[in-house]
Amino acid sequence: MNPTDDRENPNPLQSLEEWDDFLRGRYLEVTSPDLASFQGVDPAKKQDQFRNYEEDARPGVREFYRLNHRYQTYQFARAKRQQYLTLDRSQMGIWEAAEYLNTLVDESDPDTDLSQLQHLLQTSEHIRADGHPRWFILAGFIHDLGKILCLWGEPQWAVVGDTFPTGCQYSGKNVFPQFFTDNPDHDDRRYQSRLGVYEAGCGLDQVQLSWGHDEYIYHVVKDYLPDPALSMLRYHSFYAWHHEDEYGYLTNDRDREMLDWVKAFNPYDLYTKSHSPPNVEELRPYYEDLIAEYFPAKLNW
Ligand SMILES: [Fe+2]
Ligand SMILES: [Fe+2]
Repeated sequence: MNPTDDRENPNPLQSLEEWDDFLRGRYLEVTSPDLASFQGVDPAKKQDQFRNYEEDARPGVREFYRLNHRYQTYQFARAKRQQYLTLDRSQMGIWEAAEYLNTLVDESDPDTDLSQLQHLLQTSEHIRADGHPRWFILAGFIHDLGKILCLWGEPQWAVVGDTFPTGCQYSGKNVFPQFFTDNPDHDDRRYQSRLGVYEAGCGLDQVQLSWGHDEYIYHVVKDYLPDPALSMLRYHSFYAWHHEDEYGYLTNDRDREMLDWVKAFNPYDLYTKSHSPPNVEELRPYYEDLIAEYFPAKLNW
């Protein structure tokens, strides 16, 4: 099902968190200095670190992006949509899915890393503390539930990683753009014109991004949340768009309207690793209420 070479380790990251740490290093200190200083990042080092983020990446992160850029083809992303978007694998409530995701154990640094559930709660609690609407808090709480794809046997490179449009030219502002030369689509003329298989201004809804946890959770919840929340979920890893201003020629008015929401969400995702982990049992009743306000008891996964 997944096309990796047998000799390759499909999961080079010590944990999914290692990818999140890399993102934090690339983006948080530059765009959200207050949040960065909260996390103990030295402001004097910021710009240098930003310039060298690829060079300084840990070997596992580098290898992860090499696999991601090599194997996420237009056909692969399409096949995964067909495989998973039937949503007939499981029926679970939101809290249940969060607990299920939490069984994904971090192999690195078990003492200091946050669990998946704690990352979700930390994201949503910061959104709540800033006085945002309830649907925004809920989007924060569920944004990474699509990572349960890992528990269903998907390799890391098909679950996390910055997403990018397949089926058209790769922007050089995607991270590690040199690894796209190994992607079979790179030499396919159908997919490497500026527009590729798309029409100008077609809207991101028509664009097949590389497959991962964003697209999956969007489909699971798309009937239940307002559009800004859905855009946050679906595009939160599409850094080339929301941070680098690339691929604008594929967007429509609706996407451009949603972009501010996607950007508003991003610092909360990067803003984890708080000094005190959230108390899951204390917070649970609040979230059970919030979940019940928007979702049925069980959803199709
Ligand atoms: Fe995510
Ligand atoms: Fe996240």
